[in-house]
Amino acid sequence: MADVDDEGDRLLGEPGAPARRGVGWCASSRARLLTVLVCVAVSAMLALAARAAVGAGGAPRAFRRPRTAPRAVARASALPMAIAANVFLSEPSAPLGHELCGLVKWCADASQFASRMPALAAAAHAAAAAPRSVPAPAAAAPPWAIDVVLSTNAPATALRAECPQPNVRIESVSAELVSAVANFTTRSFDRREARRRYRWKHGGKDAGYKLGGPERVAVDAAWLAKWAMVGLTRYALILVLDLDIDLALNAQRGAAGPDAQLARAAAVWADELPRFVASGARLLSSLDGSAFINMGSVWLRPSAELYAEGVRLLRTNRFSIERGFADAGPPSELLPAALLHTPSPVFGESRTMAQSDALLSDSWNFVAASADQGLFPLIFAMRHHLLALVRRPEYSVHHYLGRFKPWRQNHPSCPAYFVALGILAPVDATAVDGTTPSGAPASRAPAGVAAAAAAAWRLAVAPNAPPPPGRAASVCWPRLVQAAAALVALTDAARGDAASVFARECHARQQVLF
Ligand SMILES: *[C@@H]1O[C@H](CO)[C@@H](O)[C@H](O)[C@H]1NC(C)=O
Repeated sequence: MADVDDEGDRLLGEPGAPARRGVGWCASSRARLLTVLVCVAVSAMLALAARAAVGAGGAPRAFRRPRTAPRAVARASALPMAIAANVFLSEPSAPLGHELCGLVKWCADASQFASRMPALAAAAHAAAAAPRSVPAPAAAAPPWAIDVVLSTNAPATALRAECPQPNVRIESVSAELVSAVANFTTRSFDRREARRRYRWKHGGKDAGYKLGGPERVAVDAAWLAKWAMVGLTRYALILVLDLDIDLALNAQRGAAGPDAQLARAAAVWADELPRFVASGARLLSSLDGSAFINMGSVWLRPSAELYAEGVRLLRTNRFSIERGFADAGPPSELLPAALLHTPSPVFGESRTMAQSDALLSDSWNFVAASADQGLFPLIFAMRHHLLALVRRPEYSVHHYLGRFKPWRQNHPSCPAYFVALGILAPVDATAVDGTTPSGAPASRAPAGVAAAAAAAWRLAVAPNAPPPPGRAASVCWPRLVQAAAALVALTDAARGDAASVFARECHARQQVLF
């Protein structure tokens, strides 16, 4: 989420690998109780179970708010789900930083998905079940009810100004977690000393050192605050997405159009989500080149117990580059062997967890190790064996690389992003939109190579026009318009320089969600 210069492999991480362990209809012995539920019962039971968990008092205090029961829970027969982002500021009362302005499009896309997906998924599910007389395993299949959630320490009004959609809910991160995260990031290890020791051990060089100096405290805190999602037990399932994940760019450029693309997504969701629930796993993620897993997009099944365990771990205020959180140990001794060798669905055997920086160095020196990319795997994979890896390469979303967010201050790129916002329009309506062909298993495809020759764009709004209705107080909208205006100049057909070529492209890779 945050824009960190040497974020590196966090965003060069690659789409992940098939789950070989425990994923499949009614297959997991670990989840026998759940299996019975899933195989025999109907979805209402799951929804009720999720509600019972909240009612039983397992949920952390801050999240128990029966007074404001969300729509998702209100419909008792639907599985309560959320598409969620973590928006954590080091200065909660300050205006949103430029790097967070991805929020505007993120909310618009998530809101669309949340409102349209349940009906589309139900239709896809019915269609898949129709030809056979075998009854479909109904338990976790649609109906779903999906909220959009922003988990945050920022004032609700600041986020509402960027995200006016009625299905967006603002969830405050509990004071307890904020305090635990603040303590952990400042006290768990001496970042200067850790870097010095690394340098001393590596012939005076620290090029491979990934934990950062004191300046990384705020970034780690923002990433660790993502743990709040684990405590959102009113939801049975949460798709946790960083703001640099683009759910809709594929749809926008697909020849069949956004509706067909959404229907295609719905078919995969309807197929895979019941499988994930039935597997007993609680985290579904893709692989990463540096860390064990990439936390840019994960499916999560919240748990009050796991949430509490994470907070307890943070409260030890202990971390080391050799042994990680609270002296846990070297990764190779802690990770289930099956995970290490599960191949990537995109790159196959040439990309596995065993080949990540984390395992090659067998240490906690990798991108965001002392943050979310260390804590989630420690609890879900190492301690509880509840991690599954993605396995379906044919449905993916865009993950913008490293610093190269379309909205990056003074370095805008990806005209298609601004077209989707209605801020840019192609001069020639038939122009290519500057992204790679749909379905390409590209890690870093030459996006926009064709477009570079063809397209030109113009501002679709007046440069100084007020923000559209519902966004009057938006601080991001004027910045996005400004970025788009800069893009128009940069992508002028007369220019063929490096800056222009850069700006025409969408610097994203495909991230597999299932
Ligand atoms: C953080 O540290 C302060 C000061 O030592 C302490 O009072 C507080 O309880 C700590 N917070 C957590 C959640 O452990």
